[in-house]
Amino acid sequence: GGGESDKAGNAGESTIDRVKKAGKLVVGTATGYAPFEMVNLKEEFVGYDIDTAKAIGKALDVKVEFKEYSFDGLIAALQVGEIDMIVSGMTITGPRALSVSFPNPYYQTKQVMLLPDTDKTTKSWKELDQKGKKIATIIGTTGQIFAKANFKNAEFKDYREMPAAALAMLSGQLDAVIYDESSVRIWQKQNGKSHILDENISAENLGIAVAHNDLVTVQWLNSFLYSYLGGPQELASRSYWFES
Ligand code: ARG
Repeated sequence: GGGESDKAGNAGESTIDRVKKAGKLVVGTATGYAPFEMVNLKEEFVGYDIDTAKAIGKALDVKVEFKEYSFDGLIAALQVGEIDMIVSGMTITGPRALSVSFPNPYYQTKQVMLLPDTDKTTKSWKELDQKGKKIATIIGTTGQIFAKANFKNAEFKDYREMPAAALAMLSGQLDAVIYDESSVRIWQKQNGKSHILDENISAENLGIAVAHNDLVTVQWLNSFLYSYLGGPQELASRSYWFES
């Protein structure tokens, strides 16, 4: 064994075995995605994904190290072996599963559209697909992929994090933000002056991503998640909904 093919996980040693030997699990995260990954006032990583990654480390009896990326950089970081897994609210999709492998999902969410309260008329995202309208999406996310596939006339503004996009919207620079419901709902509750369209744009399942075809690790994570998950109710009952 040894070398890059092992790191990539598709030959030789599994990630699980390598992590056990190293005594350390390196997890890729992209913060700004409440309640899954955030940085608190003490500059610590907190959130549901952070807890999940720590629980994985505990089950393997290894230390956990978090590395911060922008969301669109996570898959490349996994492919070159900078990180052992992505625990970052990543939606399981067919195209992504060509470059990474996903165990079973751990959470279900959907895309929603956030509008400023100064917009009192829009009832569907389709009405915003007009020349002169500016829609914010987060780089590399499923919300962006959806918007670019479905909006023909509106203009897009790309952001690295949802909170920055939503603030730009409140200051009048944008007409709407498309992003995962869980994150948007928390931001809306904390900041007000905005509302969420009562329309389902897409249903999505979030999964942990590991090296492509590392089936030993996929299988281990499925077993881990089977006993670890308390379900969505359990997530809702946690306190980090209003942490910042
Ligand atoms: N679920 C969406 C996607 O997979 C957005 C995830 C954003 N996650 C994050 N940690 N910033 O594209």
